[in-house]
Amino acid sequence: MVARPKVLVTREVFDDTLEYLGRYFDVTSNQSDRPFAPDELTRTLADKDGALTTISDRIDAILIERSPNLKAVCNIAVGYNNIDLAACTARRVMVTNTPGVLDNATADFTWTLILATARRLTEAEAWLRTGAWKGWKLKQFLGRDVGGATLGIIGMGRIGQVVARRARGFDMTVLYHNRHPVDPSIESDLNARYCGLDDLLSRADIVTLNLPYTPETHHLIGAVQIAKMKPTAVLINVARGGVVDDRALAAALKEGRLAAAGLDVYENEPKLLPDFLSLKNVVLAPHIASSTESTRRKMAMMAAENLAAALSGKRPPQWLNPW
Ligand code: DGY
Repeated sequence: MVARPKVLVTREVFDDTLEYLGRYFDVTSNQSDRPFAPDELTRTLADKDGALTTISDRIDAILIERSPNLKAVCNIAVGYNNIDLAACTARRVMVTNTPGVLDNATADFTWTLILATARRLTEAEAWLRTGAWKGWKLKQFLGRDVGGATLGIIGMGRIGQVVARRARGFDMTVLYHNRHPVDPSIESDLNARYCGLDDLLSRADIVTLNLPYTPETHHLIGAVQIAKMKPTAVLINVARGGVVDDRALAAALKEGRLAAAGLDVYENEPKLLPDFLSLKNVVLAPHIASSTESTRRKMAMMAAENLAAALSGKRPPQWLNPW
């Protein structure tokens, strides 16, 4: 009998994903869900032909070097900044991601943070839970209007476009910044206007980040950019830690140079700056923007199908480094 390819599933996935992979592969899976330490990952991957990975696995040149049989790394995420794509390409390791299936869930969560942050929901709830509420007051937890406000979307890819579509229901002026303007038909459908980054920052009441993390977008929003924003503005980050300079953001929130922030991602996550934990004008979430059950199931299955294709000599549908 021919030996089946060996694959590693680095974190807990759904039963249907494992069942699917089990039809084709000899599967080693880390269903305890404890992230592998780097040397543990190196050891476990050393004899594998493929891997189903997550954003908490660092797939770098050394790891690739020490996994001589590795042919495919299929990330259960649309973002793939945890993977050294160049090193994978140089060693002919296919890399795939999960675009599309998480657009709605991630855009919905962008809106969850926009509304929760503008209307101070988590701050009010935490206060209420202390038992401090003694009754209705005219000036209680005064928030900011979302309806009719100006929304600035940085990153007008698939997710940014869904965010813009949702904004129509709030009668907003929508500005966006992107590497390139999107097709005029999309602009007109979304009623969104392209503008330069500085222009967007100075005009928007709510700025949302919906772009990938790359060397070019590292600290795209730092002290200089925050200084261009209105002190009454709100910043939302569901993109990646590292797009924002967290220290600069925390300082601006503390000093009242920026009204509030809603964050799902952080530099050095899962470690957060202590300031974020103590500031009341920041709504915090643990990197869950795509986390609805159906979306996460689709992401895991899409990654598994890419792995099955890659290891059976087919072109994986979401192949990032084709040759
Ligand atoms: C992604 O898909 O990149 C998300 O951040 C993972 O939840």
